[in-house]
Amino acid sequence: MAEILAVDEAMERALALLESGDVVAIPTETVYGLAGDATNGIGVARIFEAKGRPRFNPLIAHVADMAMAERVALFDPLSRKLALAFWPGPLTLVLPQRPGNDIHPLVTAGLDTIALRMPRGFGGDLIARLGRPLAAPSANSSGRISATTAQAVAADLGARIKLVVDGGATPVGLESTIVKAEGGKLRLLRPGGIAAQEIEAVVGMELLRGADAGVEAPGMLASHYAPDAAVRLNAGTVGEGEALLAFGKRRAEGWQKAAACLNLSEAGDLREAASNLFAHMQELDRSGARTIAVEPVPFDGLGEAINDRLSRAAAPRDNSLPPT
Ligand code: TXA
Ligand code: MG
Repeated sequence: MAEILAVDEAMERALALLESGDVVAIPTETVYGLAGDATNGIGVARIFEAKGRPRFNPLIAHVADMAMAERVALFDPLSRKLALAFWPGPLTLVLPQRPGNDIHPLVTAGLDTIALRMPRGFGGDLIARLGRPLAAPSANSSGRISATTAQAVAADLGARIKLVVDGGATPVGLESTIVKAEGGKLRLLRPGGIAAQEIEAVVGMELLRGADAGVEAPGMLASHYAPDAAVRLNAGTVGEGEALLAFGKRRAEGWQKAAACLNLSEAGDLREAASNLFAHMQELDRSGARTIAVEPVPFDGLGEAINDRLSRAAAPRDNSLPPT
C-alpha cells in the first residue's frame, strides 16, 4: 500500500523515488498528478502501467521555471505572453519541442510538440530540486475521474504506487486549460482551470475552438507518430529488405537478412519495451526500409498499449479522412 506523507515531510522520499525511475503521486493546484522523471523512459512507462492506460497518449511535462521550459520547448511571442501571465498556474501550452532536448519520446508519444505547464507549490519545488521536468497525467486509473485529494489517489492507485504526497484538497479541482499557438492565433484544446475569457483578455483576441481538422486534439491520436515505412505485425519471418522490430529472445525466421534490427526488450520486459517503442520505430524508419516487420508482443500489462500503438502504425493510412 502506498505511503501517504504530508508535503513538509515528503520531499526527500519523493526525490529518491524519482531518481530511481519510480513514480510519485503529487498535489498540484489543479488535480493530483502521477509524476515520473520526464527524461527517464522506465519512469514514464511506469506512469502508464500504474494508470492502466490502454493507450500511450501524450502527457503534460511540468517545469519549475522559464529557464527549464526554454530548454525543452520553443516559445512564440503569444505563448510567452501567456506563460508570463499565468505561470505558475493551471495553464498548459502546447509548443514545438526544442530539438535535442532530453525529454523521453514516450512523454510526447513521439510527437514533435510538447504540452508544458508550470505548477504551483510542492510540484514546482520538487521539479526544481530534481532539476528535470516531471511528466504527470492526472493520478487516477484509466477511465476514472481525476483525484483531488491524497485519500482519493490512495484509494484508487494505492496498491500500485509507493508514495502519495498529501497537500490537502487541490484548490482548482479540475485539470489545466490547454492552449496551442497556431500561426498568430491560439486554439483552445481543452477547457480547464483558467477560463477562456481570462486568456482572451490577456492576448486581446478570441480563442479558436474545436480541433483543427487533422490536427491533434486531446484524446485524438490521429496525428501521432506514424512511420513512413509500412508496418507488418506479428511477423514470424523477415522478408528481404525489411527492418525488424524484435521483442524478447527468440528471433523471427530470416532475421539475419533484416535491413536493420532493434529489440524492444531482449529480456521480454514490457516496461523496457514501452520506453523503447517510439525511439526504435523512429530509428528503424530512418533506416529507409520500406517495411518494418514487428515480432509479436504479449498483450498483458503495458503490452496492451504497445500493441495499440503498433496496430495504429500498421493501419492503412488515408490522409484525406478526418481523424476518428
Ligand atoms: O491539470 C492538469 O493538466 C493535470 C495535472 C496533473 O497537471 N494533468 C493532466 O494530464 O491533466 P493528462 O495527461 O491527464 O492530460 C494531458 C492532456 C491530454 O488531453 C493530451 O491529449 C494533451 O494533454 N496533450 C499532451 N501533449 C499534447 C500535444 N503535444 N498536443 C496536443 N495535446 C497534447
Ligand atoms: Mg486525466
